[in-house]
Amino acid sequence: MKKITIRSAESADIDQIMLLEDESFHENIRESRAAFLERIAHFPEGFLLLEINGEVCGYISSEIWDGPENITGDRFTLGHRISEVHTIAGKELYVSSLGILKKHRGKGYGDLLFTELSGRMSKRYPISSIILLVSENWLAARKIYERNGFRELHRIPGFFNEGNISEGIVMRRDL
Ligand SMILES: CC(C)(COP(=O)(O)OP(=O)(O)OC[C@H]1O[C@@H](n2cnc3c(N)ncnc32)[C@H](O)[C@@H]1OP(=O)(O)O)[C@@H](O)C(=O)NCCC(=O)NCCS
Repeated sequence: MKKITIRSAESADIDQIMLLEDESFHENIRESRAAFLERIAHFPEGFLLLEINGEVCGYISSEIWDGPENITGDRFTLGHRISEVHTIAGKELYVSSLGILKKHRGKGYGDLLFTELSGRMSKRYPISSIILLVSENWLAARKIYERNGFRELHRIPGFFNEGNISEGIVMRRDL
């Protein structure tokens, strides 16, 4: 039987996280090792790993922003510094990334990680909403977000460049 565990990331997990990032995103839009290490050091509770029988098979990362006002495109920039925007007294959780190893996709693990992060963060912090940015082309991710009650706020034309250019969709759910 499969044993599924969800736990906070540690810096020692970085090689497996980079493997997940490589499998999940086009080379133009991958986060750097340094950005991930900073996220883990700064807010480990917001960076969860899903393990199947002890193997890291998925990750989700997040940070807490001060409030839902004045969210502009530059907030979502790749490689932005969590230390410049994260505040535990903030009102909005930003889910910055999510990835599952290819061989384990389509089995509900993405949804499970997402639900677990939302549950843990809303119990522990005074957040009143969750925000994220997804490419118009990432249909599996959009399905998870729509199923979890996210609604489109606005689009950022040309945000993603994966060889093809696509729109970024900013989505929010009030808690
Ligand atoms: C997005 C991702 C994390 C989802 O993980 P997962 O474990 O496969 O997700 P789940 O199994 O929980 O659910 C995926 C849903 O999308 C659906 N789906 C999968 N591929 C799809 C496609 N091409 N078109 C439409 N729906 C699709 C699945 O059928 C499932 O819906 P269902 O439960 O109603 O059948 C994974 O696909 C991934 O790592 N993708 C690359 C990185 C990425 O896009 N990250 C999102 C960043 S915003």
